[in-house]
Amino acid sequence: MTDNFPLILGIESSCDDTSAAVLHGNHLLSNIIASQAVHEKFGGVVPELASRAHQQNIIPVVNQAITEAGITKDQLSAICFTRGPGLLGSLLVGISFAKSLGIGLNIPIIGADHMQSHILAHFIQPREGNKPVPGFPFLCLTVSGGHTQIVLVRDYFDMTVLGKTIDDAAGEAFDKVAKIMGLGYPGGPVVDRLAKQGNPKAFQFARPRIDGLDYSFSGLKTSFLYFVRDQLKVNPLFMEENKYDLCASMQRAIVETLLIKLIKAAKETGIREVAVAGGVSANSALRTALLDTAKKYRWNMFIPEFAFTTDNAAMIAISGYFKYLRGEFAGQDATPYARQQF
Ligand code: KG4
Ligand code: ZN
Repeated sequence: MTDNFPLILGIESSCDDTSAAVLHGNHLLSNIIASQAVHEKFGGVVPELASRAHQQNIIPVVNQAITEAGITKDQLSAICFTRGPGLLGSLLVGISFAKSLGIGLNIPIIGADHMQSHILAHFIQPREGNKPVPGFPFLCLTVSGGHTQIVLVRDYFDMTVLGKTIDDAAGEAFDKVAKIMGLGYPGGPVVDRLAKQGNPKAFQFARPRIDGLDYSFSGLKTSFLYFVRDQLKVNPLFMEENKYDLCASMQRAIVETLLIKLIKAAKETGIREVAVAGGVSANSALRTALLDTAKKYRWNMFIPEFAFTTDNAAMIAISGYFKYLRGEFAGQDATPYARQQF
């Protein structure tokens, strides 16, 4: 690389994906993700096993990201790691690795926020060319396994949460429904796939009634659980015979719930620049519903590429790029945090 754009290595290890990516300026050169199959049989992420798997994966994943980028590690300008929110044991693996590599290469390290990074993923440019990006201020519906929130994004690092879930996250609702139906973990992608063959209006589940821009998904989950339990008493094959319709109906309930508050937020703020981020933004019904809503309300809608919806290091590297430009570096005393900071 002969120009002056920095080469940033991003490292993500907040939950159950070990990922490393290399950015050249804001252009993505590589993005490697090692998912941890070890959690599948437990129906959820087991923190101790996650830390151990990160420890096994991190060096091969970083090596592969550097090789695929077509660079050598001594060309790197800085290393950006996820500080939080996330599992402390998992975060520590990425942070400690970044600190050691930073000392070894004598380059600065940068700490990124995982939730901000999901949103900033919209600013990742492909290796060649440029794609349109949201203009400030914009609204971002951030929907993942741990969070569901509507964020007002005024600038790269000036974000305010306008509404959030008071109990379960949307991804958790997908995962719990899948667990009740014995579909495995993570549940979102399976429910999405099965729902394609089902009737979304077959069953009606209780919609949450929460004031303002906040969300609640625990009632929906309970409504699903009780409904299925009652039906199974009458017909033990109910779940198997109706799995497509159950997935489609539950998915519709989650998607509609997400959209109602997003539309309300857009009306209240007068903002028509709207984005979506996080693992659940991979959901095909949500993506279609967002595009339809955008057309109806004349929003300028930004839906991320699939690779940038679930956890990935490209989003950490883009946070690192913007912090690098501001000279916001972390010290060797940087620590992880478990809970959201903004
Ligand atoms: O952002 P993410 O990878 O990790 C967190 O930061 O939590 O999100 C993971 C969540 C899981 O709950 C997973 O079931 C959900 O995203 N998810 C989906 C889909 N793909 C992943 N939910 C619905 N439909 C999908 N296609
Ligand atoms: Zn995430």
